[in-house]
Amino acid sequence: MNSFEFNKIAGAVLGTALLVFGLNEARNIVYHATAPEKPGFAIEVAETGSGDAGGGTTTPTESLGTLLAKADPAKGQAQAKACLACHVFEKGGPNKTGPDLWDLVDRPIAAHEGFAYSDDMKSHSGDKWTFENLNKFISNPKGMVPKTKMTFGGIKRDQARADLLAYLRTLSDSPKPFPAP
Ligand code: HEC
Repeated sequence: MNSFEFNKIAGAVLGTALLVFGLNEARNIVYHATAPEKPGFAIEVAETGSGDAGGGTTTPTESLGTLLAKADPAKGQAQAKACLACHVFEKGGPNKTGPDLWDLVDRPIAAHEGFAYSDDMKSHSGDKWTFENLNKFISNPKGMVPKTKMTFGGIKRDQARADLLAYLRTLSDSPKPFPAP
């Protein structure tokens, strides 16, 4: 083989190598362009896909017991500032726009002395403010008690609600145990 022919072959090999390399690069570029979308989709599916257990949009991904076990009452106290516009949290405290909320967990519904509850709230008396009922009511008050007088939109984030419940639990002479995770 003369050097001219060698050059031709070498050129062809190099050209092929470049082509393969180039295709690979192109694939990488396409892959990189689409890659960031994938984790974004996965996270959204993980969040919205959690509603299949109970059908509601606020169905927690984790059980209430699990959320309460890692809840932070200090963060809950900050959440509770939203309630202070209408409620007092003190033992023997007065009713304001809403009833006093001292010792709320496991208290009978619509039973605080001297407060004029809506008929809809009274229709739940006989039941108690368990952690589960509080979680349901605070996530969407009108979802649980459609004609409630409590004009509050609710706290939508599951962990934020659990933090709040963990704080409300401390407002008692005998704090009630959390439900099992
Ligand atoms: C805008 C005023 C307002 C705000 C804000 C508000 N509430 Fe209320 N709340 C009320 C009223 C009024 C009622 C009585 C509802 C009824 O009778 O239908 C009530 C009732 C309740 C009850 C039922 C108590 C019982 O004795 O049965 C609970 C529990 C409660 N609120 C918790 C909360 C929590 C927790 C927050 C803060 C995250 C909050 N509320 C924020 C006005 C408010």
